[in-house]
Amino acid sequence: MDPAALLGMAEAARTWAHAPYSSFRVGAALLCEDGTIQPGCNVENASYGATICAERVAVGAAIAAGHSRFQAIAIAGPAGVALSPCGICRQVLSEFSPDGALRVVMRAADGAMRETTLAALLPDAFGAADLATAASPG
Ligand code: THU
Repeated sequence: MDPAALLGMAEAARTWAHAPYSSFRVGAALLCEDGTIQPGCNVENASYGATICAERVAVGAAIAAGHSRFQAIAIAGPAGVALSPCGICRQVLSEFSPDGALRVVMRAADGAMRETTLAALLPDAFGAADLATAASPG
């Protein structure tokens, strides 16, 4: 999948953002292994801490639709913002990309497309393997 096209789908997903508190609309497009593209948008809440980022909405919706193998995610925010996934979203994405190979497509502040990997965004990630290697939990 062309990363620019995936980013375009993330831009489109911003339309559906529920962001009445921050007015910071974010869209995501998650490319699943079978070619399905799962959109996501941020869903804010009057109890601010209950807000869910666009990336996690996309992951949750994809999982609920039976997809758990992902190749890439594109994220789009307001123009002029160099948006990169927050720490919680990096960890959630890592659950489904333990090797960090997931491609992450974003825009730089000047609007230029930028691509990196989850491994670059979340080095030394904690994951299932760490739990499995614990000799005796606790
Ligand atoms: N947000 C996202 O949806 N994704 C990100 O990568 C960063 C932040 C949302 C959460 C909140 O609704 C708003 O942007 C401001 O933090």
